[in-house]
Amino acid sequence: MLAHLAYVSNRKSTCTESEIESILKSCKKNNPPLNITGVLLYSDTKFIQYVEGESNELLALYDKIKKDPRHDKAVMVSYGPIAAKIFPSWHMANRKLAGAEVDFKTDITASDKEVFHNIMNGQQEQGGRVQELLQKVFKN
Ligand SMILES: Cc1cc2nc3c(=O)[nH]c(=O)nc-3n(C[C@H](O)[C@H](O)[C@H](O)COP(=O)(O)O)c2cc1C
Repeated sequence: MLAHLAYVSNRKSTCTESEIESILKSCKKNNPPLNITGVLLYSDTKFIQYVEGESNELLALYDKIKKDPRHDKAVMVSYGPIAAKIFPSWHMANRKLAGAEVDFKTDITASDKEVFHNIMNGQQEQGGRVQELLQKVFKN
């Protein structure tokens, strides 16, 4: 089953920018053979990752990522089937967030902001709403 999975976690203070580079290297090496695509948002204190692919592969990857010492307190905020991938060619696009806000795009609506805050707070969100927000954040 084609699915998506999104989680939020706390980036540890010991996780430097060069550690982020090494995470992205792992993504680029390991995700393509598994047909996993997605995006990683990070700030000084948080990670938000959205991945899409076969559900069993996603759950296995999430199990591995959860144990990574560069972050902790991972909370899955959205998981479920999707009709099609929204980032079919991105093995892990990434953006650094300035803070706990996502208003660097002019077309971000109040409802997108609510979705963002829910994710940041580890609250469940609907897959469609998460996808809509991330498509705006990562367009261009
Ligand atoms: C926030 C975060 C996101 C990660 N995302 C991925 C990922 O999408 N794919 C992946 O293979 N490893 C990811 N990792 C790294 C894994 O936890 C693990 O270190 C890595 O897969 C080890 O594989 P390697 O030794 O082949 O590099 C992530 C780690 C963190 C902290």
